[in-house]
Amino acid sequence: MAERAIGTDVPRIEGIEKLTGEAVYVDDLPTEGVWFGATVRSDVPRGRIASIDRNPAFPWDEVVVVTAADIPGRNVIPLLKEDQPALAAREIHHAEEPVALVAAPSRELAARAAAALTVQVEPLPATLDAEAALAAGAEVFKRIEIRKGDPDAADRADLIVEGTYRFGSQEHVYIEPQGMQAEWTEAGLVLRGSLQCPYYIVGSLGALLDEPEDRIRVIQMATGGGFGGKEEYPTLLAAHAALLSRAAGHPVRIVYDRAEDMRATTKRHPGRVTHRTGLTRDGRIVSMDVDVLLDAGAYCTLSPVVLSRGALHATGPYDVPNARVLARAVATNFPPHGAFRGFGAPQTIFALETHLEECAERVGLSGVEFRRRNLLRPGGTLATGQDLGQDIAAEAVLDRALKESGFEERRAAFDAFNAQAARREGAFRFQRRGIGLALFHHGAGFTGSGEVTLASRAGLAGLPDGTVLVLSAQTEIGQGTRTVLAQAAADGLGLPVDRIRSVDPDTAVAPNSGPTVASRTSMVIGGLLLRAGQEFRAKVEAAAGRALPTSDEFCAEIARQAGEGPLEHIVQYQAPPGIHWDEEHYRGDAYATYAWACYVAALEVDTLTGETQVLDFTAVQEVGRVLNPVLASGQIEGGVTQGIGWALLENVQWEKGRMRNATMTDYIVPTFPDTPPIRVHFLEHPHDRAPHGAKGIGELPMDGPAPAIANALRHALGIHVREIPATAERVLSALEAGRAGSAPTPESRP
Ligand code: MOS
Repeated sequence: MAERAIGTDVPRIEGIEKLTGEAVYVDDLPTEGVWFGATVRSDVPRGRIASIDRNPAFPWDEVVVVTAADIPGRNVIPLLKEDQPALAAREIHHAEEPVALVAAPSRELAARAAAALTVQVEPLPATLDAEAALAAGAEVFKRIEIRKGDPDAADRADLIVEGTYRFGSQEHVYIEPQGMQAEWTEAGLVLRGSLQCPYYIVGSLGALLDEPEDRIRVIQMATGGGFGGKEEYPTLLAAHAALLSRAAGHPVRIVYDRAEDMRATTKRHPGRVTHRTGLTRDGRIVSMDVDVLLDAGAYCTLSPVVLSRGALHATGPYDVPNARVLARAVATNFPPHGAFRGFGAPQTIFALETHLEECAERVGLSGVEFRRRNLLRPGGTLATGQDLGQDIAAEAVLDRALKESGFEERRAAFDAFNAQAARREGAFRFQRRGIGLALFHHGAGFTGSGEVTLASRAGLAGLPDGTVLVLSAQTEIGQGTRTVLAQAAADGLGLPVDRIRSVDPDTAVAPNSGPTVASRTSMVIGGLLLRAGQEFRAKVEAAAGRALPTSDEFCAEIARQAGEGPLEHIVQYQAPPGIHWDEEHYRGDAYATYAWACYVAALEVDTLTGETQVLDFTAVQEVGRVLNPVLASGQIEGGVTQGIGWALLENVQWEKGRMRNATMTDYIVPTFPDTPPIRVHFLEHPHDRAPHGAKGIGELPMDGPAPAIANALRHALGIHVREIPATAERVLSALEAGRAGSAPTPESRP
């Protein structure tokens, strides 16, 4: 089969409608007859609801109010655990807990109604620290233990290096805040919203609304970014909109403003990782002991699987003969933390790659040489015992990144620059420069048996006009889903891309191809569509009784057959052979394949202000196959920028369990001046577990920037950055501690 579309820069299918403003986001839907919803929250991180008081001066007959008592079915948003209510009935577990909902014919009236409701809460002591929660015996939503080799191997090591690494939360800051509109029709409930996972909503609302699933229809509207933030949260919003619409007898739209979105919706899990690594004197890793603690927040949401990905990446792309990873996600009274691009891996990779830099220093090796001695090569196995055969590119990406970034030359040049710094004039004498790298891998697709359980279905429908419609539930959230899936379908069918229609999903039409998460869309669903296309062609040609070599002939035949009745071909995911995963013991093939990467950050720090400017960034990754070079580069550039934000700027500040800096003025994300030139290089070793050879890339670029930057700061300043974000304030206080003689150097490790 000739591939014509895959590997080329097919322009973004929805690009023009987004540029011209024609794309319809949920808040662009017509407003006639639509009511608007607002949410009343607890404000207190833990307590018991005493009463919900209505201001008697408010015209309550003009609005509807919904509380837990109005829920027709079970008051729960089922996810991995059935612990989160749609509306708090009595117990309050976090300060943004929704307690009541209001809807009114205008946004203004809805806001006034919400303000006219007062939730009286009897406060209870709240736990706002994960370590303290663990010590106090709070619920551990998930505990994972991975073991490899000899648990006592550290006893035989020449030296042991220890360190604890901390990371903050992170807000998604998708361009478009969360929004959902619900409408009850004869056929049931119709939800239109900004979301990643239409079938999560279909599968979750039945019990709550006491409606059969086949009466719940979800239509994705144009969606302004997700990054994981629209993975699970939209289900809660859909429940709220549905309850209000049921009570109001009108379609009801809820669109959060930026402040409410930042405060109330999920964020990246904050936490810490403690490493204890046994080394030989010549710099070989003997053992790794890793303890991971994530703050899950008040409800379980997706924390167990976030933790799982974190634990599985905690020992990195290294050949570690003896390893023990203990990982826990503990309940606190923060709003629930949830899915965020990278899904636990950025946290553990930050810790590991920063720690290994300290290990290298202890044995007197450069970070590069130390990694080279320990990286995974064919024949080695991951901590789970997974043998990747030849599908390993750790050394290849390291070599390429060193070359592309001019790593060694720049390191020497920066050393010279820093040595002369004190002799420079004026403000220049405060400048220091550093370069650092991180080596990592990222598992593509759902963890463990996830893809087998999902059993995704996707396919194609021939239309009477001779075009072919992609049938999948995958969502376009800015990453290029519609385009890449059209490319895969086109090549499977042997048709040009302009004969393919690839649209935003509607569960009335789209089969359940699973959620748009976990870097799975291009790899898994793209692979399914490639196969579906081949089979579709064979089916149409068989029915025609002849080969249809030209596109015009093939499309004319599609039009003819589609005119006689539905012409669909749906295929289902089948696990590639030879994949085995033992969920109980965390042994085996956690992912069918991994992408490999080495990222290099070069930066300059102003030691007077503590500010860091990333000068440039090199991102080298082996991704199997690049399906669309422009879109793939865009994924990497965006992820690197988001990673720079998490590493240096994005500082979620909490006050009594609430996000204090929930504005774009106070929560600083990278803007253009903070974004360096990002040089993206792909290595392609098509892997044999997807028909097109592509691995996932969506989350990968989030993993590398933080440790590369931390290691570059180490080079520039001689301080170890063990906590991110490394804000100007943190950098300054670390420098001051260093001047006072208490710098956390490897010699005086805490
Ligand atoms: Mo994701 S963080 O797998 O949407």
